Amino acid sequence: MKWKLMLILFLLGSNLLAQKKTNVAPTPPMGWNSWNYFACDVNEDMIKEMADAMVESGMADAGYEYINIDDCWQIDRDENGKIVADPDRFPNGIKALADYVHSKGLKFGLYSDAGRLTCEERPGGLGYEKIDAETYQEWGVDYLKYDWCHHGLHKAKKLYPVMAAELAKLDRPIVFSICNWGWGKPWKWGGEIGHLWRTTPDIKACFDCGGFFRLSVLKILDKQVGLEKYAGPDAWNDPDMLEVGNGDLTDDENKAHFSLWCILAAPLIAGNDLRNMPKDVIEVLTNKEAIAIDQDPLGKQGYKYKDKKDFEVWIKPLENDEWAVCLLNRSEEKMDINFNWQKELNLKKEYTVRDLWKHQDIGKSSESYQYELPSHAVLFVRLQNP
Ligand code: GLA
Repeated sequence: MKWKLMLILFLLGSNLLAQKKTNVAPTPPMGWNSWNYFACDVNEDMIKEMADAMVESGMADAGYEYINIDDCWQIDRDENGKIVADPDRFPNGIKALADYVHSKGLKFGLYSDAGRLTCEERPGGLGYEKIDAETYQEWGVDYLKYDWCHHGLHKAKKLYPVMAAELAKLDRPIVFSICNWGWGKPWKWGGEIGHLWRTTPDIKACFDCGGFFRLSVLKILDKQVGLEKYAGPDAWNDPDMLEVGNGDLTDDENKAHFSLWCILAAPLIAGNDLRNMPKDVIEVLTNKEAIAIDQDPLGKQGYKYKDKKDFEVWIKPLENDEWAVCLLNRSEEKMDINFNWQKELNLKKEYTVRDLWKHQDIGKSSESYQYELPSHAVLFVRLQNP
């Protein structure tokens, strides 16, 4: 009897009763978010144009569905405590905008914060979780990114479940994206509460550069090692949104960044201006063979298999006993590689090796493959059943 009481107290104390909705993100969510490119400069027309561009560029057809507004859409609360959108930037209100996004066959996301204020000091959700969740439902919100600024002495593990519980009470399924930058190891508790959780500080649009508050693609990649065991359907590690097409990332770097995020079963949330994409950027974002690796129904996150300093091998198990493999050259120099798939990966059967950027079969897994891997590039393949 005593142990039963203790168990109940433990469950209550650890907030495991949040009961998030399931089957909301059976594979990593795919979409677009305003922050990486536009930061606070968001408005209704731009968001509508982004929805149009998601359809016209072929991204919707490739699987992207969420159009998410990040910080700065909100300005105040009314006398009843209801959140108010900036009337200058969103003159028709958020519901009309969500309706427009839905009319394009897409889904709509918003941003708020578990603390008193958002990171840009707009009204946060603390103390308003119930009314906010109900408002999001009324507006037709499908995705909520929930940040971690101005949280005072609260603990993430205790505060995120408050909003999760309110979302769980709604009829509408809403993806709950925990954004507390990996503080307090959200991979250990996030799966009970949300559908994805950030594992690091913000990403920066450079492949390999310094920084403390914002990290390069490679620095973020390094922080994913060992997290694979926490990921699965409805519970994804989030190494932050994509910088493909931003900053001065080269074509090889864009491809490497995208391939590695696919290996990581990361949410694929584009962060560039979809209205003005060069052809090569569209090709990266809409590579359906790469996206199929990210979205593989087995729902397993890939992991680092070999680390030879500048040369790394990342692999991801796929359904039907297939594999995705990513050979990465981290160095500033090109690299000659001679790779025997079977020997290096200890394969027990023969596969066809398919290059996912060339869209070509390049041999069999029992054969060695010779290749000149450019600096900051990947060879991204699928080991396919013959
Ligand atoms: C934090 C998040 C970012 C973005 C900004 C908005 O830094 O990590 O992704 O949402 O806040 O203010």
